Amino acid sequence: MPSVSNKGLTMPQSPIRKLVPFAESAKKRGINVIHLNIGQPDIKTPQQALDAVKNNNINVLEYSRTEGSEEFRTKIAKYYLKNDIAISATDIIVTTGGSEALSFAMNTIADTDDEIIIPEPFYANYNGFATACGVTVVPVVSKIEDNFALPPIEDFEKLITPRTKAILICNPGNPTGYLYSEEEIQKLAALVKKHNIYLVADEVYREFTYDNKTHASILKEEGLAEHAIVIDSVSKRYSMCGARIGYLVSKNKEFIATAMKFAQARLSPPTYAQIASEAALDTPDSYFAEVKTEYVARRNILIAELEKIEGIKIARPQGAFYCIAELPIKDADHFAQWLLEDFNIDNETVMVAPAAGFYATEGLGKNQIRIAYVLDQESLKRAVFILKEALKSYKG
Ligand SMILES: Cc1ncc(COP(=O)(O)O)c(C=O)c1O
Repeated sequence: MPSVSNKGLTMPQSPIRKLVPFAESAKKRGINVIHLNIGQPDIKTPQQALDAVKNNNINVLEYSRTEGSEEFRTKIAKYYLKNDIAISATDIIVTTGGSEALSFAMNTIADTDDEIIIPEPFYANYNGFATACGVTVVPVVSKIEDNFALPPIEDFEKLITPRTKAILICNPGNPTGYLYSEEEIQKLAALVKKHNIYLVADEVYREFTYDNKTHASILKEEGLAEHAIVIDSVSKRYSMCGARIGYLVSKNKEFIATAMKFAQARLSPPTYAQIASEAALDTPDSYFAEVKTEYVARRNILIAELEKIEGIKIARPQGAFYCIAELPIKDADHFAQWLLEDFNIDNETVMVAPAAGFYATEGLGKNQIRIAYVLDQESLKRAVFILKEALKSYKG
């Protein structure tokens, strides 16, 4: 039999999706599985985005421009301006989701065996994109006790080598829910300038900030234009995960010109999805106000209910819609599978994401899970009740 690549063999499985077969088999046994494992919001997609696809009169579904349509990018630039970020249409490449923007960014800045420093736990697919690009992820540990705040800047600096190409952050964080302060961003900005490397910020959850806190985008940092690369997406912002539209944003002309060559190789982003995403940019602020109120209520219920569980440790999220909880168990992978295979209350169980896959350091996060609070408040209450009872029965 011909062999597959070593790269393929080392490609990590998604910790979010790897338990899916167990969930499917539980469902076949008639068990209702409450999904706390995946960041698929239940929020309605803005109507005008859906209408824009229904009401257009395209006769030939053509390729678009490689970097995305001019009208769409001009409107995206206006969106940034509204967020006090001065960006022009030429600083943007429209991608097939933030996922493709991440892959283009890594391929554009790093060669095989180059290094990218990332505070962990981090969005697990960073590991996958890094493996696909041959890039080495160098983790810096952030701690649940500190709410997953930015680790001391010296911890980053001592890891910088001649192979270091970038520091990558996610703000607000998936899976931590941590929102970096302006001061933390400034420290990172000073460090990347000092060592002449890139600062890549995944800002796909930019709108989801709570407790009257505002988002500190790296694109607002003075003197950082040549270093700053932003990953963005409509997936969560407008609850349009299936559109598969994201953007790569940078004022560094060489970076954009180089990334364009990777984009040209895949021809163009999807046309219908650009039409929907362009219309979504007209979503009124009231939509976000409502969505935010709902997520804050969900977070508060989730944390209040989780706190009733004996021996649990929880980080308090200030953004995005994820929360890491440390459970009084040894192996969250085993526990998550057991929940699907061997436990239910009145034919109902929960699916969580074991957190070890969000760490690059072997052995970390083994007793932690990630919970996505993308369900209505009653379902969240019920899910935490099931989790609490499950922990009482679980023998590990
Ligand atoms: C932090 C983060 N970045 C990027 C993505 C990729 O999103 P998409 O490809 O749907 O835009 C996700 C999706 O969950 C995410 O959580």
